[in-house]
Formats: sequence, C-alpha cells, structure tokens
Amino acid sequence: MVQNMPNFVTPFPLESAQELLGIYSSPLYVYNGSILREKINHITKSIPYPHTEFQFASVTNGNVSLLQIFQECGWGLHANTPGDVFLGLKAGFSPHKIVYSGSNLNCQEFVQLLNWGVTTFNLDSVAQLELFCDIYIDKFAEKLTAETKPKLGLRLNLPKLTGESRIGVRPEEFFQAIKITNAVGLKLNGLHFYRGTGTNSTKAFTQVIETILSTCQLLQDWEYLDFGGGFGYPYHHNRMAFDWQNFGRELTAAIEKIGRKIKLIIEPGRAAIAGCCTVLTKVISVKWQGDKQIVGVDTTVANLSVPSVHGGYREIVSFHEINKSDLYLTDVCGNTTYSRDYLGKNCQLPILKSGDILAILDTGAYGYAMSSHFLHRPRPAEVLLEKNQHRLIRQREDYNVLLNSQIFS
Ligand SMILES: Cc1ncc(COP(=O)(O)O)c(C=O)c1O
Repeated sequence: MVQNMPNFVTPFPLESAQELLGIYSSPLYVYNGSILREKINHITKSIPYPHTEFQFASVTNGNVSLLQIFQECGWGLHANTPGDVFLGLKAGFSPHKIVYSGSNLNCQEFVQLLNWGVTTFNLDSVAQLELFCDIYIDKFAEKLTAETKPKLGLRLNLPKLTGESRIGVRPEEFFQAIKITNAVGLKLNGLHFYRGTGTNSTKAFTQVIETILSTCQLLQDWEYLDFGGGFGYPYHHNRMAFDWQNFGRELTAAIEKIGRKIKLIIEPGRAAIAGCCTVLTKVISVKWQGDKQIVGVDTTVANLSVPSVHGGYREIVSFHEINKSDLYLTDVCGNTTYSRDYLGKNCQLPILKSGDILAILDTGAYGYAMSSHFLHRPRPAEVLLEKNQHRLIRQREDYNVLLNSQIFS
C-alpha cells in the first residue's frame, strides 16, 4: 500500500540539517524547544477548569533537558517507574509535583519513593495498596507531617469502558481498599483513569467522562481525578487529530456540574512531546527492485524502535524540492540485516543518492526512550534547538557502551 502523499515540509532548511550533522554527526535526534513550548501551552490552555494540574508522562521521553522545559512551563511529572522519579528529581521537579501511577513495586521501591518525598500514589491493585500501607505504618507514619502525608488513589479498571486490562482496581474492590487505607490513618483520595495510548478520537474520552465522575463519587474522601494520558498525536498529519479544546470544554463542564472542588490531573505523554523532534539520517546506499527504491540509511530501528517493531507510522521527508510526479515508492531500511529493520515502508520519496539527508518526523515520544542496544549499534546523540542556538543534550554513544556491565577475562 502506498502511504499518503506527503504534505509535510521539513522542519528546518537543508543548510541547518547539514550544519547540525556536520557538528554532531549522523544519525541525530533534533528537538525544537519552541515547538515543545507551544504544544505545552496549547494543551495547558485547552482545559479551563481552574484546579487542573498537568503532569508530563516521562515514559515517552526521559531526557532531563526536555523535562526541565516541562518544569519551567509549570507542569509536574507522571512517573510510571522509580526511574521516572529519579530522572524527574534530577530535572528539578519537587517531589510534590511528581505523581506515581505505576505497577508492581516491591517493598524497597516503595520505600525509595517515600524517601524521595513523593506524595501522590495511584496504585494498581489492592495488594499494592496493602503493601504500601504496611510500609507507611511501619516506617513513615511517625515521620510525615500533614503536608507530606501520602495522597492515595487507585488506578481504575472498568472493562466496559476500556476493554479487558491487567491494570487497575474494579469498583467492587473499593470497599476493601478503603478499609485497608483507613486502618493506617490514610484516606483514599483519588481515582486514575487511563484510556489507552495514542487515541485520536476525542469522543473516546468525552463519552466516558460521566461514568468516570460517578465512579469517583463512590469514594467518600474523593479529592482528585487523574484523567491519565493516552491522548493521540496525528502522525498522519492529514487525518483525525485529538481535539484538546473540545475535550477541555466537556471535561470542565462535567466537573463543574458536580459542584465539588476537586483537583484534576492530566498526564499527556506523546501528545505533548511527539511533534517537537526529528531524527536526521544520511542515505548510505540506494538500489532498485523493479519500480521500488530501496534506500539504506545510517540508522536502525534499534535507534528508533517505534515504527517497525511496535507498529505505527512516522513520516519521512527529504530536503529536495519536488513535484508529485518526482516521487517513487520507497522503503527506507536500517543499517542491519534484521528482517524488521525498516524506518519506513512504502514511502513516497524522490530519487535519492548516497549522502542525501532524510528527516524522520514526530519522533519525540517513545523514540529515544525505547531505543536499545539490540543489533549492537550505539545510540545517536540528542540536540536541542532553542532561540536560534543548538546544544547537545545527550552524547552519541561509542562502542564501549556495549561492554557496560559485562564481566569477562
Ligand atoms: C498511567 C499512564 N499515563 C500516561 C502515559 C502516557 O501515555 P501517552 O503517551 O499515550 O499519553 C502512560 C503510558 O504508558 C501511562 O501508563
């Protein structure tokens, strides 16, 4: 199948791409700070409900320099794991601005989060709640003050809204959960809802608001609703995009109708960060198989794993000035023989030659964060463009990284 005719322009001119690759080498993750700030601003303004807090879901991107931009814009951090909290603290987030909503922590990990000062925990099961409460009463109850006392929430499991999911607690378990929490002098303050990642349909979110809000009201000490992440990003720029304005309006109206001052938490990941990043890569070799152009580039799906390994689509554009008639069906292939090493299949690109530069768009979310040393290629560098300047925000790895932690004689 031929992908849609690209209606994209490159995010910066060829001269800038050449300059960046000249300084930092190829392949290269390039983030645009202004685009990121605009997006953060757009999302922030779209929810008029006055008691709203935004937490960036750093599972999508853990680069500390980028986390600092979210912090400067007044957002907090959503942590899926203790590693997210660790990076968030390094970026300068106060632990009170970090909401943990992960799964299956052991005793030491809960102790670590409490020692780091995290105060909001959305727990995934009654067993996790029980473990948390045991640790709290054993080691923390006497030390913590009214301000630092944990706020506890449950991740919500409602199969009729989101289908079967391993995550979360069902309403029929709330009674037991409240009993466990109250027994150690804590309260069950919140619910956390997660629609599922990458949903571009606004209705998929707005149509569940009433159900979520009435489920929250089953908690007598209800103080906050965390409406999660999962908001889509339009990787196909000409297809449906999540409508933040519409979502914000409907959610605000529904909460205001309840007439109770609760805190609303929104924790977007990809919707906030996907669009600010481009991976630049150089063409290494070109061959033709019939009418199809097979282009080999100097990066691999291990450097940017999302498209071919986990499904999904990222637009790939060249810096040539082209007419529609100059475009050819093209596969963009990585620099390994791994059978899934395609950065893009059935793209529409002009005739390319060795040394040309390609831009892989919208790679800010689950890009570097999901890269790996599979195929034993070191990872690229990351660069941030801000105020007409560029700066390195993560070094390119060299082969020594492949020996990290190995023990041999
Ligand atoms: C609880 C929670 N919130 C937010 C996110 C971020 O999701 P997205 O990038 O779809 O917004 C995730 C992703 O795993 C998550 O588990």
